[in-house]
Amino acid sequence: MKIKKVGVIGCGLMGSGIAQVCAQSGYDTTVSEINDELLNKGLGSIKNILTKNVEKGKMQKADADATLARLKGTTSINDFSACDLVIEVAAEKMELKKKIFADLDRITPKHAILASNTSCLSIIEIASATKRLTQVMGMHFFNPVPIMKPVELVRSIATSDQTMDIAREFSKSIGKEIVVAKDTPGFIVNALLIPYLFDAMRMLEYGVSTREDIDAGIRLGLNHPMGPLTLADFVGLDTLYFIGCAMYDEFKDPKYAAPTVLKKMVTAGWLGKKSGKGFYDYK
Ligand code: 3HC
Repeated sequence: MKIKKVGVIGCGLMGSGIAQVCAQSGYDTTVSEINDELLNKGLGSIKNILTKNVEKGKMQKADADATLARLKGTTSINDFSACDLVIEVAAEKMELKKKIFADLDRITPKHAILASNTSCLSIIEIASATKRLTQVMGMHFFNPVPIMKPVELVRSIATSDQTMDIAREFSKSIGKEIVVAKDTPGFIVNALLIPYLFDAMRMLEYGVSTREDIDAGIRLGLNHPMGPLTLADFVGLDTLYFIGCAMYDEFKDPKYAAPTVLKKMVTAGWLGKKSGKGFYDYK
């Protein structure tokens, strides 16, 4: 099966990036949001990035226009009825994801592959809402999607070889480097990233150093583009809190337990860059 039409459920930070990359790579792409306001915001951010790419000389105007022409926004899940692949990028709530996958199972063609961009939830549990366990998998992208090279392809105990092969071919065609992981909370990257970011937060909490020096130590000492506290703000503190809780639930390992400072900040609505305040101020 060759993928021609792609669906993306969710047009926030990650969903809009995934939709942009798919449309840019030549796929007819339908992207959905729960209302017109969020849809227009997401589509607007894609247009802005493409316009900037043209201004910087990274992209021809004709290519940007063709990308936008391949992109269709919708607020109805029924518009995914002709998709060969749907990538779900909805909120990290198991019940919501199961509802979406049950709907997609009913609406999409029998051959379609259904993928979740979940960063930590069980793929087999999401798949259990469908009657096509062999065609459900994880496709976990990284923020910012148009810039970050990898995609983690996550194979549940039921995902077939054929589904993995098609996903590999598709991922390559959109310019991604593939890493493959088992269906275990956090897969590869978040399983390592979450304890690291939480340790940096605890280091700040215990007064080992300042936020600036913790970040500078890692940036300069390990040559990372961002220090851990800047990265935490960039990813979103609520997202990290949620991933940590899901991983702790599964493994009961204290290294995944959210630091007190993180819990307090999320409770205060300090969610990082997106809310204007996190470990740093962005106003
Ligand atoms: N969307 C699209 N393009 C973006 C972007 C965005 N949000 N942010 C930056 N860019 C582009 C810029 O336009 C610029 O392009 P140019 O070279 O053509 O001008 C290029 O990226 C570099 O940007 P800047 O010069 O402004 O800044 P930096 O050199 O600091 O790069 C960065 C920004 C790429 C975000 C870099 O800091 C970085 O790689 N940070 C680490 C990101 C990371 O670790 N992401 C993974 C998070 S974990 C995750 O997503 C998994 C989840 O499950 C938690």
